[in-house]
Amino acid sequence: MVFGSNPPPTPAWLLDRLQAAGGAVPFRTYMDWVLHDPVHGAYGSGQLRIGPRGDFATSPSLGPAFAQLLVRQLGEWLLALGPGPLALVETGPGEGQLACQLAGLLAAGWPELAARLELVLVEPNPGMAQRQRRLLAPLPLPQRWTDWAALAAAPVRGVMLAHEVLDALAVERISWDGSRWSQQQVALGPDHNLLLVSGPPLQGWALAELMALELDSPIQPWPSGWCSELHPGVAPWLANAAAGLAEGHLLVVDYALEARRYYTPQRCSGTLLAYRNQQASPDPLRDPGHWDLTAHLCLDTLQQAAVNGGWRWLGCCRQGEALLALGLAQALHGLQDPGSGADLAERLASREALLRLVDPAGLGDFRWIALARGGQGEGLGPRPRFLREPDG
Ligand SMILES: C[S@@+](CC[C@H](N)C(=O)[O-])C[C@H]1O[C@@H](n2cnc3c(N)ncnc32)[C@H](O)[C@@H]1O
Repeated sequence: MVFGSNPPPTPAWLLDRLQAAGGAVPFRTYMDWVLHDPVHGAYGSGQLRIGPRGDFATSPSLGPAFAQLLVRQLGEWLLALGPGPLALVETGPGEGQLACQLAGLLAAGWPELAARLELVLVEPNPGMAQRQRRLLAPLPLPQRWTDWAALAAAPVRGVMLAHEVLDALAVERISWDGSRWSQQQVALGPDHNLLLVSGPPLQGWALAELMALELDSPIQPWPSGWCSELHPGVAPWLANAAAGLAEGHLLVVDYALEARRYYTPQRCSGTLLAYRNQQASPDPLRDPGHWDLTAHLCLDTLQQAAVNGGWRWLGCCRQGEALLALGLAQALHGLQDPGSGADLAERLASREALLRLVDPAGLGDFRWIALARGGQGEGLGPRPRFLREPDG
């Protein structure tokens, strides 16, 4: 079955790979290549730019407000770990803005904590790591780039952040033809164009994962041609992260949906989107290696994988709620004060940035997921501040 129409030409490097693979590969392999190939991948080569003037914006790329609110939670989590060396681990730091802002805030507001804090960056894509090094070099905190294997050999105590990282892991695309589930593939068409096609019947882990979601409903059957995503990269990622953190918290912030909303028959083509130059496209085959490809996470599979991978699930909420609990209302109120030192234009811009972070139709709908390892109960401090009621 062919899903794509008017397919685009295929770049030579991808043509070679697909021919070597027999003409078709699982969508997951294609996504991995076009994002993470060190020469041709959008992240691997470092060509994607993150920020309001780049290919897409993320919360920390909009300015310091996000880090200013988040740092209250980080400070609390780090202090609860008691004496000894600590680490702030950021995985997938992108341009490095969040690490940079948090390190500056911790050094200024928690100097005793910062004095025993190391910044650890886990970034598999050499092109991105190069830019992070340039931005972070002047920071007062010791810093190192590492990988999961090295971190597992000497696990740290501290806080680990994964901000919009898990949505960049390659997904398995699946489709329903009215009678069976198939793996979606990317194939070469007759003119060496790229096509999305139905591949072999779904089996093994993918079928098991789908069945474990217990989504079947005789009242709402999936329409023929319905397709969606599974997330084979999430469980190994969580297991790697657990092996690298001896004690502390992991905060995952990302687009995510409950399984019943993700796999509803009405969501006919999943959540996969391509981003470039602040534009979104539903076509993942467009100009391969030049667009970001991203898919929502499934909260239910993530929770199961986290628990199986050695994490305690502390809870989850929307970014809007999390930032309110961390003092967003007070920050907005403070901007009304003409004596705050900032001029009117600056205060209006700050207000705009804060409101964008909690926009329920945008970043405010992102999920904040809190996980922990080591310690027990109150041993790692009280319930995360952002999962409590706002201060008022
Ligand atoms: C969407 S960007 C997010 C950047 C940044 N955290 C932000 O929010 O601005 C995804 C980042 O994750 C990195 N990445 C991709 N796969 C990864 C993996 N398996 N482990 C760690 N980082 C990864 C990418 O290279 C990139 O730096």
